[in-house]
Amino acid sequence: MLKRPIIIDTDPGVDDTIAIMLAKSHPELDIKAITPVTGNVPYSSTSQNALRLAKYLNIDCKVAIGADKPLFIESKTAGDIHGEGGLGGYILPSSDKDFEGYAWDVIKEEAIKANGELEIITLGPLTNIAITFLRYPEIKPLIKRIVCMGGSTYAGNMNAYAEFNIWVDPDACDIVFNSGVPITMCGLDGTEYAYLTIDELKGYIGKNTKIKDLFDHIFNFFIERRTASTDDDKLQVIYDAITMAYFINPNIGKTKKYRVDVETKGSLCAGRTIVDLFNKTKKEPNVDVLLWSDRDLFKDMLNKMLDFYK
Ligand code: RIB
Ligand code: CA
Repeated sequence: MLKRPIIIDTDPGVDDTIAIMLAKSHPELDIKAITPVTGNVPYSSTSQNALRLAKYLNIDCKVAIGADKPLFIESKTAGDIHGEGGLGGYILPSSDKDFEGYAWDVIKEEAIKANGELEIITLGPLTNIAITFLRYPEIKPLIKRIVCMGGSTYAGNMNAYAEFNIWVDPDACDIVFNSGVPITMCGLDGTEYAYLTIDELKGYIGKNTKIKDLFDHIFNFFIERRTASTDDDKLQVIYDAITMAYFINPNIGKTKKYRVDVETKGSLCAGRTIVDLFNKTKKEPNVDVLLWSDRDLFKDMLNKMLDFYK
């Protein structure tokens, strides 16, 4: 089997956790490192969650020390959206693993070792990636591609137009999207086609797997949040897991290349990804944007993931 060397950059995070579970269930992914970043919850939690998740899922990889604040602006987190500690209140067993190196150094090392084959999937703010490119611009040609959960072609979830991962560190996104590295942006709109209903969430619970405790806790957390939601549709979009599913099997989504810039300032929509759908800027397209995702294929990938952990 041809293995794909990858690094997972993440702010676990309930949906990050499902994404990492999915990655582990695909042996063709050679997870070289998990690089935590501040985001959903403060870095003190995302970093410990990353370390403990690697142990819990038996992922033999480095867990690096990542950025504990955005490049230039003050840290912002997602409040209680991910529950106490970031995993819906679940406390993972402590890990005897320790952090190994800084994220930017690990990314550089693995990029050189993979000799142009390294792929990075980002599930949180892009601070670690931006720091890597600022410190080691020479390794950009060695990154095969970055698949990023973030952004949106239209509305946001943190202000009218900004999606959380970009909103936390828009300057980092600006650096990464203008790096010249092939980027695929899996934003709110492209991922939300692969939504799950409350009944569908319930259908995944209770399976006899090695990850039952954590998986069921998180899915029950989703069910509680959706049930309590005032949204009409009460649909759950597991953004990071859908992004990971696309990373694993691009047939799950449809993309098109556009010019994407980032609003780094602005009082009304800082953090907005400005997707030039009608090429009004006449600037070179720089990002493949996910426009659609296959709900049935995603649901099937989740079922196959649970089979892996039986
Ligand atoms: O906006 C959704 C994204 O922000 C997901 O990655 C979620 O984990 C949060 O980080
Ligand atoms: Ca995330």
